[in-house]
Amino acid sequence: ASEAEEKDLVIIGGGVAGYVAAIKAGQSGLKVACIEKRGSLGGTCLNVGCIPSKSLLNNSHLYHQILHDTKNRGIEVGDVKLNLQTMMKAKETSVSGLTKGIEFLFKKNNVEYIKGTGAFQDENTVAVNLIDGGETSVRGKNIFIATGSEATPFPGLTIDEKKVITSTGAIALQQVPKKMVVIGGGIIGLEMGSVWSRLGAEVTVVEFLGQIGGPGMDAEIAKMTQKMLAKQGMKFKLNTKVTKGDDSGESVKINTEAAKGGKEEILDADVVLVAIGRRPYTAGLGLDNIGLETDEKGRLVIDQEYRTKIPHIRVIGDVTFGPMLAHKAEEEGVAAVEYLTKGYGHVNYGAIPSVMYTHPEVAWVGQNEQELKAAGVKYRVGSFPFSANSRAKTNLDTEGIVKFISDANTDRILGVHIVGPNAGEMIAEGTLALEYGASSEDVARTSHAHPTLSEAFKEAAMATYDKAIHY
Ligand code: FAD
Ligand code: NAI
Repeated sequence: ASEAEEKDLVIIGGGVAGYVAAIKAGQSGLKVACIEKRGSLGGTCLNVGCIPSKSLLNNSHLYHQILHDTKNRGIEVGDVKLNLQTMMKAKETSVSGLTKGIEFLFKKNNVEYIKGTGAFQDENTVAVNLIDGGETSVRGKNIFIATGSEATPFPGLTIDEKKVITSTGAIALQQVPKKMVVIGGGIIGLEMGSVWSRLGAEVTVVEFLGQIGGPGMDAEIAKMTQKMLAKQGMKFKLNTKVTKGDDSGESVKINTEAAKGGKEEILDADVVLVAIGRRPYTAGLGLDNIGLETDEKGRLVIDQEYRTKIPHIRVIGDVTFGPMLAHKAEEEGVAAVEYLTKGYGHVNYGAIPSVMYTHPEVAWVGQNEQELKAAGVKYRVGSFPFSANSRAKTNLDTEGIVKFISDANTDRILGVHIVGPNAGEMIAEGTLALEYGASSEDVARTSHAHPTLSEAFKEAAMATYDKAIHY
């Protein structure tokens, strides 16, 4: 970067929030630079998050299916062997293809890519410690902070990414552990726990709350999902908190006790996955130099238009409020640039889908039953099991349900919750319905192709205000 030139927009962080904002800004004709310290674009999601975990989830599922679910389909296979190294290579191929793709998109949209660590010098200047050595600085009329998040450590356990791991170690283990304890039965714990359980590890998930999946997951769906995962071999200790751990020996000892106090137990594992949430990342960013502070959770505070108290500095993605999801970060990347170029932008935080990529997948959008009950909203529920869906039956993949929740008076959809095959793709329809303010009857009166899994979606909608045909 030339020190003299001032950019219209400088973005710190080339994760999903930052890179999407950079491309959008380039497309809008702004002079834009994006600073990324990782040496590769795409942030957590592409490098160590969404993409590598989904590669392992997909391939470990195939492996597990070939081991356990082929005979009854008339497919007889011989010796099935795991080649973990090749499975990891396949993952790396997906990651590098996608991260390089973003570099290409940067070139195509005239985004300057600065490889290094950025820190505020003053309100318009970012000093960059370059990866290849040396320093530079870049000035911006506007600056976006998109520095993402990091795994929350567990006090007393030292993360070495081998014996005590976060998700970053969990996508890169060199061998299948015998015993794995997962601290936290949220999305990371269940996705990565699934991967290693399918590949042969004995996995025990310890969760503080009374349900898996985190509080956003509908309680009925969480219960069903837990049963399905338990059938696959995962063990669960709910209402149990990990109080401390000891990683000084060959194996790791994990002390647990009942969440409400009482019963103690010590678990022994050769690998412990710490998955107790993620926290905003602002280390080394030089926030002090510009007088910006974070809240008690480490988040940078912003207004409706993503502005900090210094109006030309905006914040998007995991480092600020809202769910830590890639598609949320992406929406904010676009909206923040639109606020800059047009004065208005749009993100509907009430219609951001969540997907857990286990098998079966779990997906939801909008509010769940326990939230609506707590809020005193009168609602109706309609559900439909995949066991009554023709396509699920032909696929011999019938576990799960679609569940609609709509307003008792108006039938307007309040939430859609799915556990079942392809839930992650199907939830797009629920999100669209919610975004458009549809009623369950609107969905039920829309023709859905036969035979598809999406007919379960239509029939669940139908069951919300009337009766389903096939159940
Ligand atoms: P990040 O992706 O974290 O990007 C921030 C970037 O900023 C990083 O690359 C970092 O190196 C860089 N940076 C930080 N400080 C500086 C600095 N001072 N100078 C220069 N660069 C800096 N979400 C989903 O929606 N779907 C999924 O399936 C999914 N799976 C996940 C699986 C795992 C294992 C994990 C950990 C996360 C997953 N997520 C998923 C969450 C998703 O990865 C994040 O929500 C998303 O990456 C947030 O994007 P971001 O741009 O805000 O931050
Ligand atoms: P999480 O917040 O989803 O789950 C953490 C869980 O750990 C909670 O259920 C909590 O009750 C539990 N916990 C905390 N302390 C504990 C203790 N001492 N003992 C026992 N349990 C304890 O966080 P997670 O799974 O680490 O994921 C972080 C974020 O990454 C998610 O919030 C999600 O936004 C994102 N992510 C999204 C994915 C997706 O969209 N498919 C996949 C992976 C991550």
